[in-house]
Amino acid sequence: MCGIVGYVGAQQAAPLLLEGLARLEHRGYDSAGAAVVGPSGLRVAKLAGRVRDLSEGLPKRFAGKIGIGHTRWATHGPANDVNAHPHTDASGDVAVVHNGIVDNAAVLRQRLADDGVELVSDTDTEVFAHLVARSTADTLEGKVVDALGAVEGTYGLAVVHADFPDRIVVARNGSPLIVGVGEKEMYVASDLAAIVRHTTTVAHLEDGELATVTAGGFTTFRQDLSRSATTATTLDVDPSAYEHVEGDTPRMYVEMLEQPAAVERALRGRLDERFGTAHLGGLNLDARELRAIRRVKLLGCGSAYYVGQMGAALVEELARVPADAEAASEFRYRNPIIEPDTLYVAVSQSGETIDTLLAVEEIRRKGGRVIGLVNVVGSAIARACDGGIYLHAGPEIAVASTKALTNMYVACALLALQLGRVRDLSIADGKRLVTALDELPATIDRVLKLEDDIAEIARELARHDSMFFVGRVRGYPVAREGAQKLKEISYRHAEAYQTSELKHGPLALISLDVPSIAIVPDDELTDRNVAALHEIAARRGPLVVVTHEGVDLAGLDAQRIDVPRLERELDPILLTIPLQLLAFHAAQALGLDVDKPRNLAKSVTVE
Ligand code: AGP
Repeated sequence: MCGIVGYVGAQQAAPLLLEGLARLEHRGYDSAGAAVVGPSGLRVAKLAGRVRDLSEGLPKRFAGKIGIGHTRWATHGPANDVNAHPHTDASGDVAVVHNGIVDNAAVLRQRLADDGVELVSDTDTEVFAHLVARSTADTLEGKVVDALGAVEGTYGLAVVHADFPDRIVVARNGSPLIVGVGEKEMYVASDLAAIVRHTTTVAHLEDGELATVTAGGFTTFRQDLSRSATTATTLDVDPSAYEHVEGDTPRMYVEMLEQPAAVERALRGRLDERFGTAHLGGLNLDARELRAIRRVKLLGCGSAYYVGQMGAALVEELARVPADAEAASEFRYRNPIIEPDTLYVAVSQSGETIDTLLAVEEIRRKGGRVIGLVNVVGSAIARACDGGIYLHAGPEIAVASTKALTNMYVACALLALQLGRVRDLSIADGKRLVTALDELPATIDRVLKLEDDIAEIARELARHDSMFFVGRVRGYPVAREGAQKLKEISYRHAEAYQTSELKHGPLALISLDVPSIAIVPDDELTDRNVAALHEIAARRGPLVVVTHEGVDLAGLDAQRIDVPRLERELDPILLTIPLQLLAFHAAQALGLDVDKPRNLAKSVTVE
């Protein structure tokens, strides 16, 4: 949440900042702004709204070869021009962009006000600019360190100062910050997407670390100003995968259609047909250690949590190890008991979700072992874990996650398979699953071909203000994810419920105006599921049933979406994909911007 970009080098900074901001807009789109230090000192432009609004005039007006920019997802204060970043001190010499939350902002604001400082915004960030300006240190590094000394909270931060026109000072504590190395020019960013066209050689700052960035290079140091040893590495990423021209097909749509290819990447080199198992070198666990695991706990937020629930069921089924999933945002607050023979699994696309990261840190602090199922290589969660499985979904830009979730499920399947095969899973069952995984990309392709029928159903559903998504056992997390996706991008109210629980209360809400989308896989619960759906139909509740070809709905009056079958272990993900299409087409029918849903942003890096 919030995007940061910075540039120092031989080129004009403003056009590069604007380009970086456009590529960061998924991180926050409440406001945008930039500060450039040039011959006429420090100049700032910022406004509530989109980067394209900021673009008008900025490159022409601001000459200068060093600058910082920001896209905002509001935490303190509404989205207006004044609260947009960068924030400056009273003299206008210092500019700061910030991602994170200053926990003691109220105290610091009061203290500054008592000293006669006029605070112009409602933000927590503004205090940084005043604190930097008031420091008596004679270097920018010293001034930033002084300011940080007063601040409690999280930050990814970039500071420029008219009196130090050759440098950007950046700092990280809990919010992502990278330094990009170019040819006689340097970049800073919260996210590789902002700078990937210019460099893939980056240094990831650690928490508590700062860096001085000049055209000639960067040096990292700690808050006591002692040097640290963080270096840059060249990432193995394809810059073209980040390209997406605004105004084209929505990014979410592109990412949904990429799923077969993304799954192929996730499987590449990891399936062992001969022994019916998976090879996951990055786990850093040998067979003996895998056998010693007595419990598996998956942790994630939002959709990653729901996929974690699907994955927990898989682990129990294949490896016969007790497994469950928990919302990472709640985990550390209940003083969890960390068991040495539990394998903790952090699930995250961005690898920067603060709640998941803090859960990982809590586990490690208490001596637990945690692996990450993470998409972004080198991200904070990936680095904080003992090992893991990269998702290889490619960059996911749309706020509504699709291909990364599918690959999370695939990673769970691979983990369950490897865990199962060092325990009691037979070679025959292992081979059956390997074959099914191999066929998964082609089967997803067949699901995606259902789009036209699903779009028609979605247009009808979009007319309703409220609806249920129902499923049971393996179908329940699928229902949760379906409801989440619909809410997120169509702003329609959707509640996920266990089908079996409806008659204990929510059935009272069923009417002609409240449709239900039911997940009914072909399994031992089909009859029970269908019976419950008849109870909905009897109350005139419209029904859409996401099911398998050949399932008998016993005369139910319902629209059905028939999903091709592979093996039962892969049902949840194949049943989820139609719900992505459903949410997408509902949002499209309502004329909404699916890639930038209101109030949300990609990567929740604040608590
Ligand atoms: C998914 O569509 C959502 N945007 C959201 O729930 C997301 O899955 C969640 O914030 C976790 O993000 P992460 O995978 O990057 O940790």
